[in-house]
Amino acid sequence: MKRKQGTVPQSRRGSGKGAALMFGPALMARLDALARFTEVPGELTRRYLSPAHVDAVRQVEAWMAQAGMSVRTDPLLSVYGRYEGRRPGRPAIMIGSHLDTVVDAGKYDGALGVLAAIAVVAELDRTGERLDHAVEVAAFGEEEGSRFPTNILTSSALVGAARPRLLEAKDAAGVSVREALAAAGGDAGAFRDCARKKREIAAYLELHIEQGPALEDKGLALGAVTAINGSVRSIVTVSGFAGHAGTVPMGSRRDGLAAASEMVLAIERVATAERDLVATVGRLKVLPGAQNVIPGRVEFTIDMRSPSDAVRRRAHAELIAALRQIAERRGVGVGIDTFQENPATALDAGVIDAVCEAIAACGQKPLRLPSGAGHDAGVMAKLCPSGMLFLRCKDGISHNPAEAITVADADLGVRALLEAVRALDRAAPSSRRRSRERERE
Ligand code: GLV
Ligand code: MN
Ligand code: MN
Repeated sequence: MKRKQGTVPQSRRGSGKGAALMFGPALMARLDALARFTEVPGELTRRYLSPAHVDAVRQVEAWMAQAGMSVRTDPLLSVYGRYEGRRPGRPAIMIGSHLDTVVDAGKYDGALGVLAAIAVVAELDRTGERLDHAVEVAAFGEEEGSRFPTNILTSSALVGAARPRLLEAKDAAGVSVREALAAAGGDAGAFRDCARKKREIAAYLELHIEQGPALEDKGLALGAVTAINGSVRSIVTVSGFAGHAGTVPMGSRRDGLAAASEMVLAIERVATAERDLVATVGRLKVLPGAQNVIPGRVEFTIDMRSPSDAVRRRAHAELIAALRQIAERRGVGVGIDTFQENPATALDAGVIDAVCEAIAACGQKPLRLPSGAGHDAGVMAKLCPSGMLFLRCKDGISHNPAEAITVADADLGVRALLEAVRALDRAAPSSRRRSRERERE
């Protein structure tokens, strides 16, 4: 399909032709540089608390300091850079995203929001512009849940909603979050110190690639996110009976993988029956995992999402009933641990308006759209008015090394984020009166 490219606006502050791509090339270079922090040479895999993640943390700390921010890394290894406003100590407008990635990731999911936010502050610092609010850049540590079953752990800690039991969650090698934090220079024991007070943060705004095709299909570069779909995540354990692949007759087997396979198809069927409901089995572990042994035990994950909490809850209950029925018929055991549930979250109307205003100020037409993916903004919405700015990505591809954006769009992303911060600064009350109101909340 032939698609129109968005136009590139003149920089509001710059003039002449040279100002057109004031931020894009440098941002793309930094995104490439950050992608070199990987656990696996030849691909981008940067899971929470891996050495690659810790190296990325150190790099981001340095970039924040260079951009004129005072830098603090919290006990869970989220990095915060603060650029004071006209009067030090005022509430902050927080902008940012996450540094961790999925396994074999693209370069833009999370990293774009962090590095564009640093570029915004670097521009404020370069021109000496101070706002009424402080601006804080957040580089959250753990959003993806790609190492531990803990996704959105670090923003949850910021809003005071992280459950302590998540610190004991283990990765595939049996290492707990607590142990990994100790090895990475963090401190699980101090996780409550990550929490911030309502009065400290006036608003949160996250720039992110869309991870879907809506913007590209409409020939638009930027969108304002209206809501984030709800999700539920479970781990299913199927217990069959291991045996000899050559001697046990087909009719006498209790094959854990054959049962799990039927369950995966049942999950697909339940999700397909509902509009806008999606469900994914993304990881499946077969034990003992030998060519000549009937699988005795299988573990797999379920990730189910919908814009409607009622639909998601009903479908999840239906799916659990289907799994139990399959297990019973096949004579295997089934355990279902539903370890995380995030309700659908409407983003703040005032922040959405500020984002639309900013997109228009960049000469672009704003599209209001929901997010199928989960984001730290959905967590931040528990603490403060929150919103998101989506940037078009090629073919809507994400969680895949083929993720791509253009340099012109990257440039627009920084400009729009800067304009949105200014719009929020004008709109959000930062007076002592408001601070006092928040203190009482
Ligand atoms: C994060 O990318 C998620 O939506 O799983
Ligand atoms: Mn992301
Ligand atoms: Mn992601």
